[in-house]
Amino acid sequence: MRKFLKWLGVIGGGLVVVAVLLVVVLFLVGSRKVNRTYDVVIATVPIPDDAASIARGKHYVEAIGVCQVCHGQNLAGPVIDDCKNVPCIGFSDESIFGKIAPANLTSGLGGIGGSFTDDDYIRAIRHGIGMDNQALTIMPAEEYNRISDDDLGAIIAYLKTLPPVDNEVGKSGLGPLGRTLASFVGGLIPASLIDHEAQRPQSPEVGVTAEYGEYLSNICTVCHGEGLSGSRVPGNDRVKAPDITMSGDIGHWTKSQFLDAIRSGNTPSGNLLDPRFMPWNRFTQMTNDELDAIWLYLESLPGK
Ligand code: HEC
Ligand code: HEC
Repeated sequence: MRKFLKWLGVIGGGLVVVAVLLVVVLFLVGSRKVNRTYDVVIATVPIPDDAASIARGKHYVEAIGVCQVCHGQNLAGPVIDDCKNVPCIGFSDESIFGKIAPANLTSGLGGIGGSFTDDDYIRAIRHGIGMDNQALTIMPAEEYNRISDDDLGAIIAYLKTLPPVDNEVGKSGLGPLGRTLASFVGGLIPASLIDHEAQRPQSPEVGVTAEYGEYLSNICTVCHGEGLSGSRVPGNDRVKAPDITMSGDIGHWTKSQFLDAIRSGNTPSGNLLDPRFMPWNRFTQMTNDELDAIWLYLESLPGK
C-alpha cells in the first residue's frame, strides 16, 4: 500500500510538472504572437469627400460593421465607469486577463482622430495592426479585411467627420492569462489570422443577390463562425451563437420571420434575442434590400 501511494505521488507530481510546463509553453507562444511586429505594405484606397460616400460610411459603421458595439454609441470608446457595472463587449480591465480598451475614434482628448493618417486607418481596420506595427487585440480585422475598397474609403471618410469627444481609454495590453489564451484563440489577435499579402478581392456588386448577402454577412461569422453553422461568441465562452444555416432552427423560418427577428429581436419561437450578445439592435438599421440579400445567402447554405 505504501509503495502504491508513493507511485501515485510520483505520477501525480509528474502530471503537475507536465501541466505547468504546458502552460509556460502556451504563455511563451502567446507572448511571441502578441509581441510580433508586422511589416505590411499598405495599399492605399481612395478616400472620398462627397456627402453620399460619407453617408455610406456612416451606414456601414452603424448598421453593417457594428463598430459601436465595442467603440461605444458616439465611437469615442466605451465609458469606462459604465463598463464596471454593465458588461461592455470587447472591454476588459484587469491584470490577469489584461486590458482591452476599444479606441476613442474621434479627434477629442485620448482619441486617434487627431493623429491618424489614411494609412493608419487602413492598417488598423484592414490588417488589425496598430501604429507601432504590433497586432491590435480583439478588433475583428479578419472580417473587416474583406471590406471592399469603396466601403473602406467611405468608412474612413466618415470617421474623419466625427465630432471630437474627450475620453482617455488608455492602452490595451494582454496579461498572463490573455497571452496564454492568445496562443490558441486566434480571435484575440486577429492580425495573426490574416494573409496580409493576399490580392484584394473584387468589390461586390451591390444588389439583392446571394453574392452581396455573403459580403454583408462577413460580420455574422465573427460569432456564428465560418460557414455560419454556429460558434462561441468571442470574449464570452459561455454564450453560443446558433447555427443560422438551413440546418439550424432558421431552416423552418420564413423570410418575414427572419426580417422580424432582426427588426424586433423576437424569434418565431418567442425568444427575445439578447442585444448584448446578438447586436440585432444595430443590424436593424440595415435596409430591406440588405436584409433580403442576407436571407438569400442564408437560404443558399445547406448547413451541416
Ligand atoms: C469586438 C470589438 C470591436 C469592434 C466590433 C470594432 N473594434 Fe475597433 N478596436 C477594438 C479594440 C479592442 C481596439 C483597441 C485594440 C488595441 O489597442 O490593441 C480597437 C481599435 C481600433 C482602432 C485604432 C487602432 C490603433 O492603432 O489604435 C480603429 C481605427 C478601429 N478600432 C476602428 C474600428 C472600426 C472602423 C470598426 C467597425 C468597422 C471597429 N473598429 C469595430 C475593438 C473593436
Ligand atoms: C457579436 C456576436 C454576434 C454577431 C456579430 C451576430 N450574431 Fe446572431 N446571434 C448571436 C447570439 C449569441 C445569438 C443567440 C442570442 C440569444 O439567444 O439571445 C444569435 C442569434 C441569432 C439568430 C436567431 C437564431 C435562432 O435559431 O434563434 C439569428 C437569425 C441571427 N443571430 C442572425 C445573425 C445575422 C444575420 C448576423 C449578421 C448580420 C448575426 N446574427 C451576427 C451572436 C451574434
